[in-house]
Amino acid sequence: MNAQMSVALWRGAALLLCCACLCAAVEEECVLGIVGNPVLLPCLYPDLSSFLNFSIEWRRNDEAVLRSLWKEDGDVETWSLNHVSISTDVLSTGDLSLTLPSAHPKLDRSKYSLFLFAGENQTEPLCTVSLRIAASFSPPEVMKVPSEENSTTYLCHSSGGYPQPLVHWIINDSQEPPNGSVETQALIDSHLYNLTSHLTLNFSSPATVSCTIENQSMNETLTSKYGETPKVRRASEGMWIFSTVLCVVVALMVIAGLCYQINLDKISKRRKKEFEKPHRGRRQRYKQAAEVMMEESKETDV
Ligand SMILES: *[C@@H]1O[C@H](CO)[C@@H](O)[C@H](O)[C@H]1NC(C)=O
Ligand SMILES: *[C@@H]1O[C@H](CO)[C@@H](O)[C@H](O)[C@H]1NC(C)=O
Ligand SMILES: *[C@@H]1O[C@H](CO)[C@@H](O)[C@H](O)[C@H]1NC(C)=O
Ligand SMILES: *[C@@H]1O[C@H](CO)[C@@H](O)[C@H](O)[C@H]1NC(C)=O
Ligand SMILES: *[C@@H]1O[C@H](CO)[C@@H](O)[C@H](O)[C@H]1NC(C)=O
Repeated sequence: MNAQMSVALWRGAALLLCCACLCAAVEEECVLGIVGNPVLLPCLYPDLSSFLNFSIEWRRNDEAVLRSLWKEDGDVETWSLNHVSISTDVLSTGDLSLTLPSAHPKLDRSKYSLFLFAGENQTEPLCTVSLRIAASFSPPEVMKVPSEENSTTYLCHSSGGYPQPLVHWIINDSQEPPNGSVETQALIDSHLYNLTSHLTLNFSSPATVSCTIENQSMNETLTSKYGETPKVRRASEGMWIFSTVLCVVVALMVIAGLCYQINLDKISKRRKKEFEKPHRGRRQRYKQAAEVMMEESKETDV
């Protein structure tokens, strides 16, 4: 059992398709499927080669979703529902794990069981796996909304997650909101949750309010704050300006370097010509021009 579990865990980690999660019943294996991603429901039975002909059946809540029959002549017959599949080399690996092509919230809390039929009738499943489904919420957006006089209302919105999360508001980084000040609504949009929470305060606006969306199935908490201290914002703006200026300076230096190089090339070309056709006056002029150019490029270099 231990070896089976460790192999299953290793496969899960390697494929990043499933993760262990907490189940109500400890003896059951539990797999977390992320909405839209494939899920692997692990099941290993290493001694299949001892059977001459056998069949298996994966059931979801007692409804068959996949049947495979291995005949004496080596042929395999498989039937499945909704494109679920098992490995093609079951006989050599003993790996009977079921792959669901895409996790869907509809499958949340399904119980999958594998039955092996070889000769005698089988009444107990070989493997039982509980499936939990989860999806990440979008980072919450917090904003101030118009409200009645003498009160301040904030709205927190997050969408596209599963299952229904917990919502926490914190005022000034430390205070819990007063009783009755929070109203939260969860709408279901194509099986996923859209969450909208309102915080209404009777006292004057606090410095900050933060809204946290906690998705316990994903072990994920997302927090957004309204009313960051302006210092932090200025510091980040400063960094932005600094990096922009740095980019511009570097670009100018590169351009100056290129101009300098082009000038040098021109000068050496002209010098070649001068040597071919020596002329005192021109040479003098050229020398002066070259000196001026050198001085100019020195200036741009600085
Ligand atoms: C194999 O299966 C067939 C029918 O499914 C059965 O008639 C036969 O006896 C089985 N053979 C063995 C060796 O179990
Ligand atoms: C196996 O199942 C058949 C019909 O489903 C039944 O007649 C038979 O008695 C069962 N055998 C055992 C050993 O349970
Ligand atoms: C805010 O004040 C209104 C009436 O002025 C009252 O009905 C409501 O319960 C108060 N809410 C809180 C959170 O104190
Ligand atoms: C859920 O939220 C998304 C994004 O904010 C929005 O596009 C969609 O219309 C919302 N659905 C419902 C039913 O509120
Ligand atoms: C949840 O995440 C935290 C930090 O990332 C980690 O320490 C903790 O073990 C996780 N819990 C579960 C049940 O995965």
